[in-house]
Amino acid sequence: MKPNNLESLWMPFTPNKSFKKDPRIIVGAKDMHFISDDGRDILDATAGLWCVNAGHGRKKIQDAVYNQIGELDYSPPFQFGHPKQFELANRLAEMFPEKMNHVFFSNSGSEAVDSALKIALAYQRARGKASKTRLIGRERGYHGVGFGGISVGGMVKNRMYFGSLLSGVDHLRHTHNPELNSFTKGLPEHGADLADDLERIVQLHDASTIAAVIVEPIAGSTGVLPPPKGYLKKLRELCTKHDILLIFDEVISAFGRMGTPTASEFFDVTPDIICCAKALTNAVIPMGATVVQDHIYESMLDNADAPIELFHGYTYSGHPVACAAALASLDIYKEEGLFERAVESAKHMQEAAHSLKGTKNVIDIRNMGLIAAVEIQAKDGAIGARGFETMKKAWDLGVMIRANGDTIAFSPPLIVENSQIDQMFDVTKKAIESIN
Ligand SMILES: Cc1ncc(COP(=O)(O)O)c(C=O)c1O
Repeated sequence: MKPNNLESLWMPFTPNKSFKKDPRIIVGAKDMHFISDDGRDILDATAGLWCVNAGHGRKKIQDAVYNQIGELDYSPPFQFGHPKQFELANRLAEMFPEKMNHVFFSNSGSEAVDSALKIALAYQRARGKASKTRLIGRERGYHGVGFGGISVGGMVKNRMYFGSLLSGVDHLRHTHNPELNSFTKGLPEHGADLADDLERIVQLHDASTIAAVIVEPIAGSTGVLPPPKGYLKKLRELCTKHDILLIFDEVISAFGRMGTPTASEFFDVTPDIICCAKALTNAVIPMGATVVQDHIYESMLDNADAPIELFHGYTYSGHPVACAAALASLDIYKEEGLFERAVESAKHMQEAAHSLKGTKNVIDIRNMGLIAAVEIQAKDGAIGARGFETMKKAWDLGVMIRANGDTIAFSPPLIVENSQIDQMFDVTKKAIESIN
């Protein structure tokens, strides 16, 4: 089954040279498992890339996609509508926090973020605050790979090769504090006051120049960093105080990862804008969505200086097949009670993850919702090498884990069984112990 020439494909976020010498090829998937080209079942401890929340090969989504292609394969989203995109927007408005009733569709998390940043800027201008143009991100944030996303993002390798990025961007300090918070179960105790960093930025630039702050409620791609207790509430208060929009990038946290539709409900903090993607369609068809509060949408419509209120959109915004996949996914989440199930599984995962404390080279363990991370001491002069070797060894032992540098991240589908959680961590422990 192995393709005989791997060189034509330039693989994303992958060390191409090393992969092509020793490829890991996936040829199938069902429920909690991938199938490798050598016929092995590989337990999916990462829901693919934090996206296959209902598990693989779901017949209901498959049927919805198949039927939709037969009924309406495509319709242009500019100036024309089709029923399922309105239905999906209504379903999301119902599911998301109160007042978040308006949905702009795109095709990925990166596009959902860029849409949010553009909406924030256009909104400030529409309501007569055109000087509010600065965008504030956070160190160690990941907001996808568009120029907007990498500008507000805070991962050095994702930024350093790509020029000077967007102007007028600044960053809050990150919230990771291993000295005080290592091996915390759930939310760290220390660090709520780091939200005050926004005051420093306001003092430097003045609030009259700042449009929006964007953060992940829980930073995922930089190694799973749960927010300190009280941090997000404080950030919300400061944004309100200074008339700055708060954007939550919920590309990984929406659709049950925290046991709630969004992390916003979990933290009881409502931002002005939420970006989501990934599990929206259970990853079957690419789709992103930017969901905004009423005041943003209404202000844009009331104050527009042209018949088109927002000069932004994608050929595939609200694609009918993506909408069909999303509606079927939302049905599955509800019918099977998967968000509630995640709350129960999260308790088991917390204990299983923390049982690795004391394992060779493990320097921290973090968890929140159905997310956990085991951080390994980086090798001198070779950051990420141990994480990478651990991931490869776990693959050989039949489990797909994800290495972000030297942090191993776990975010299984919400259908995971406790015995599979045990397998994930048993194999990871063996893999870590086998690495120098
Ligand atoms: C928080 C966050 N934002 C944005 C993105 C980008 O999403 P995509 O890869 O679909 O563009 C990701 C992807 O992992 C993410 O974790």
